[in-house]
Parts: sequence; structure tokens; C-alpha cells
Amino acid sequence: MAEVTLAGLDTMKREGRRFAVLTAYDATFAAMMGPVGVAVVLVGDSLGMVVQGRRSTAPVTMDDMIYHTECVARGVRDSDDKPLVMADMPFATTFSPLEAAGHAARLMQAGANIVKVEGGAVMEETVRFLTAHGIPVCAHLGLTPQTTDMLGGYRVQGKGEGAGRKIVEDALALEAAGARMLLFECVPNAVGKAVAEAARVPVIGIGAGPSVDAQVLVLHDMLNLTRGRKARFVKNYLEGRGDVEAAFRAFVEEVETGAYPAPEHCYG
Ligand code: KIV
Ligand code: NA
Repeated sequence: MAEVTLAGLDTMKREGRRFAVLTAYDATFAAMMGPVGVAVVLVGDSLGMVVQGRRSTAPVTMDDMIYHTECVARGVRDSDDKPLVMADMPFATTFSPLEAAGHAARLMQAGANIVKVEGGAVMEETVRFLTAHGIPVCAHLGLTPQTTDMLGGYRVQGKGEGAGRKIVEDALALEAAGARMLLFECVPNAVGKAVAEAARVPVIGIGAGPSVDAQVLVLHDMLNLTRGRKARFVKNYLEGRGDVEAAFRAFVEEVETGAYPAPEHCYG
């Protein structure tokens, strides 16, 4: 795959080739991902839970994100097949475009190739400002974990025609504002399909059905390291396989062939 670029991912979308995304928080795991074909490594603020043991992502700080982005960037640096590094903008760093740009710049300096922001139409000005200043943005819509208190918990978003249409419209407004990728979390299959068909930029899904252009899972979930109740879209890729590398390869293959997500991982 050589070095993954945004332009390369746009081409994959145009050609109908699916790609795999995984989260990583350290150099060791990140270094394993490019060589097995993971296209994008996401330094997710899910690290608040899986690394720091918190109950939500809201307490994750810029310093935390910078530390882990640097670790991941060092991990992928020497891969022949270098994945794109995406880093989450943590909670409360995107309230104004100017403030967001300062934080995003620090993540880019730490080694990110693109930053991810949570939120719908409210993020339009911020996305416009960041992208106008040369910082690529992925917009995360649907279930936005930083604001689950506002959403009333971890639940499927965009149910019903009006709510589904609103999320898709918001996403297209953010694409028009310059977003280079979209990420949809926990939405009915039909919403994922609608946005993937309407958007020119790649749409990454997590619990967004089989019709989106890419799939992401949290590393600790797909290796079955997380305890407690699991989301519907989680699949254990270590089961029946001897090692982490084989689990990564299986995930990449199932995403690329469309075998994942199966109906049991989706919100019909
Ligand atoms: O933080 C994270 O891991 C994420 C993914 C769940 C998309 O944002
Ligand atoms: Na996140």
C-alpha cells in the first residue's frame, strides 16, 4: 500500500474499495498495523477508557492526546506501508474555530495527518476554518461519545426518517465546509448507506452498517480485552487465531471483502 494519503483514500472510495481503520495508542501496536494493510490508525480519545480506566472520554486532555499521538507516529514512521494517522480533538477543544485551530495544530505537530472532531452542523465554521488553514478534518457524527450525557447515553442515533435525514444533511454540510472524511457511529444501516452514497469523501463507520466506505474498531474491543457489556458492532478477531497480527489481518480482509460487518453487528 506504500504511504497512505487522503488522495489515495478518495480514489479507493471512487473505485468502491473498502478500507480498514483501527485505533492505536502506542508505538508497538501502531507499528504492526500498516504492514498488514490497515489504512488509517486512529489515536482515539477512547484511550480515556481503554488506557486510563476512565468512564468516559470527556476528561481526556490535549496533553494526553499529544503524548499518545507522538507514540503512534513514532510507531508508524518506519513502516514501508505507512498508514495515515488520525488524532481525536478532545472534548471542549473545538468550541471556537480559532481555539480549535490552535489545538489541531499541536496534534499535527505531534505527528497526526488529520484530526477528528465530534459534532454535526454546529462544527461547520470550525471545519471551514481548519481546512482553510491546511488542517485536514474528519467529522464524527451520529453517536458522539464526548456528549453522551446530552444524547441520553450510548444509543443508536438517527432513528426515524427525520432524524436520519438531519444527520446526513449535517454531514454533507461539513463536507461542503471542507471535511476530508466523515465518521458515522451507531446509526441505522440506511443512514450509513445514504451518507456513503451522497458524500464524495470516504465515510468510516462503526456500527453504521455495511454500506460505508471503511470500518473502524477500537483495538481493545477487537482483541477482546475489554470487559463488561459490548456494543453490537464489536467482533472478537483474536478468537480462533494465534496472535495479534493474525487478528489484524483477519479484520482487514473482512472489511475489504465486506464480510464485516455481518447483520448481527448492525442496527437494521
Ligand atoms: O475514540 C475512538 O476510538 C473513536 C472511535 C470509536 C471512532 O472515536
Ligand atoms: Na473518539
